[in-house]
Amino acid sequence: MVTIRPLQPTDEATWRELWQGYLDFYQTELPEAVTATTWSRLVGDPPHYLGFVAEQDDEVVGMATVVLHDYTWSDKPAGLLHDLYVNPEVRGGGVGRALIDHVVALGRAEGWARVYWMTKEDNAPARRLYDTYAPADGFVRYRIAL
Ligand SMILES: CC(C)(COP(=O)(O)OP(=O)(O)OC[C@H]1O[C@@H](n2cnc3c(N)ncnc32)[C@H](O)[C@@H]1OP(=O)(O)O)[C@@H](O)C(=O)NCCC(=O)NCCS
Repeated sequence: MVTIRPLQPTDEATWRELWQGYLDFYQTELPEAVTATTWSRLVGDPPHYLGFVAEQDDEVVGMATVVLHDYTWSDKPAGLLHDLYVNPEVRGGGVGRALIDHVVALGRAEGWARVYWMTKEDNAPARRLYDTYAPADGFVRYRIAL
């Protein structure tokens, strides 16, 4: 049984563990100041992003972040599923799907234009899950570090 709920200020320690796992997965290091800023933006009043955690057996085992933004091709907002991470010990058990389902249901209820996300082309476990929602749309991302 997986429950999804909004991130709370009291989740900081667990969220930070999941966040570090997510950064490790991407072999990325961020300065502590950036993580601290991201955390404060997640739980600020008002928050900058929508943060969710997944609970299984009373333990937080996954997290997702959504950046809700205006969208020039619609008068409704778009939800970018920016971060998604599930504790390795419980992967394959439906936690990732529960997090995505929750975001999609929220977007439908609140009238967003779309929920969308990106992943690395070779992230096979993630793509197995994502391909059950929609086909990849063929857009390719370009990036200039400034
Ligand atoms: C991608 C990720 C979030 C998926 O979370 P998850 O909890 O394992 O996903 P689920 O258990 O909901 O998987 C859903 C489906 O994919 C299948 N699946 C997922 N991971 C699998 C794996 N490693 N091997 C085989 N099947 C897998 C499940 O069988 C399941 O199918 P079903 O719903 O028909 O039973 C998780 O693997 C993860 O955190 N990966 C590392 C970080 C990452 O890649 N994040 C996404 C970046 S865009």
